[in-house]
Amino acid sequence: MRTYRVAAIPGDGIGKEVVAAGIEVLEACSKREGGFQLQFDQFDWGSERYKRTGAFMPSDGRDQIRGHDAILFGSAGVPDVPDHITLWGLRLAICQPFDQYANVRPTRILPGITSPLRGVRGPELDWVIVRENSEGEYAGVGGRVHRGLPEETATDVSMFTRIGVERIMRFAFALAGSRPRKRLTVVTKSNAQRHGMVMWDEIAAEVARACPDVAWDKMLVDAMTTRMVLRPASIDTVVASNLHADILSDLAAALAGSIGIAPTANLNPERKFPSMFEPIHGSAFDIVGKGIANPIGTFWSGVLMFEHLGERGAAARLMRAIERVTADPSLHTPDLGGRATTAQVTQAMCDALLGDNR
Ligand code: IPM
Ligand code: MG
Repeated sequence: MRTYRVAAIPGDGIGKEVVAAGIEVLEACSKREGGFQLQFDQFDWGSERYKRTGAFMPSDGRDQIRGHDAILFGSAGVPDVPDHITLWGLRLAICQPFDQYANVRPTRILPGITSPLRGVRGPELDWVIVRENSEGEYAGVGGRVHRGLPEETATDVSMFTRIGVERIMRFAFALAGSRPRKRLTVVTKSNAQRHGMVMWDEIAAEVARACPDVAWDKMLVDAMTTRMVLRPASIDTVVASNLHADILSDLAAALAGSIGIAPTANLNPERKFPSMFEPIHGSAFDIVGKGIANPIGTFWSGVLMFEHLGERGAAARLMRAIERVTADPSLHTPDLGGRATTAQVTQAMCDALLGDNR
């Protein structure tokens, strides 16, 4: 029997609640599917550990999970620790050294979910956003000098490398080519950002020449927001820089009905390091401990994890169960306008998996 070792890092806030739910459901799915098993190892990395010890993870933390097949991450962030400390101390401390340069964010309107877009029922909105996840505006290059003085200065330098842009373009063109519509939109801002983004555009055009089966277009990021709202059906696969895709993917999640549903995969496509799967909603401190966090974003991230592990049967089975559950409004959590609890949705998922006779 194939065994996959998964490092579970629930992190902060509702991350703990949704990862616990995710483990239960992924285990139920693997048992129902058969042929493989999951072994979860728990890591208590996060802000509580930071407040206690001064570090979000132990100094050899990455070595502890380097050999795992995948990472299931919850969220990072608490009200009393500045967000940039948390981000760089935990999530980016895993993503960047593990070279998880391709961040994949599928967005669809699942059955039973209502889009805030008038007239959009479902099939019109079926997107995958590919986010460059290793450099660009999140490169961490910059500094702050003369603190507190009138001449205080702070810089954040966006860094684009030929290697970094080329590999994300190749990844995005290949992903677009694997989808039925074979259509890619390259998001840019090369009118204003005349160095990095101009190189970004040039490399996109170079990679496009090697992928003649993919129809592609280029769109300025501001115009892209309008197109997402007004012409959603014209979009299929999207590739954008780290910050541009961060912003567009929140818009995408809202247009698809709730940020509680949206999943993401931080992939190291070469598999030199484990890839990391997480819901995008964050730690949501306003609802911590209430038992009403929407676990669907974590379950859908599990689908991406199964796909990455090559367990296509399990991935399809888990996605079918998610769609069965979202189709039933009595199983909607409050973010979707319902009254269901995390535990009820989780139980319904396990029932749907057991009852799935395909
Ligand atoms: C995301 C999140 C993070 C990001 C936050 C938590 C720093 O918004 O994954 O989209 O900006 O990368
Ligand atoms: Mg974001």
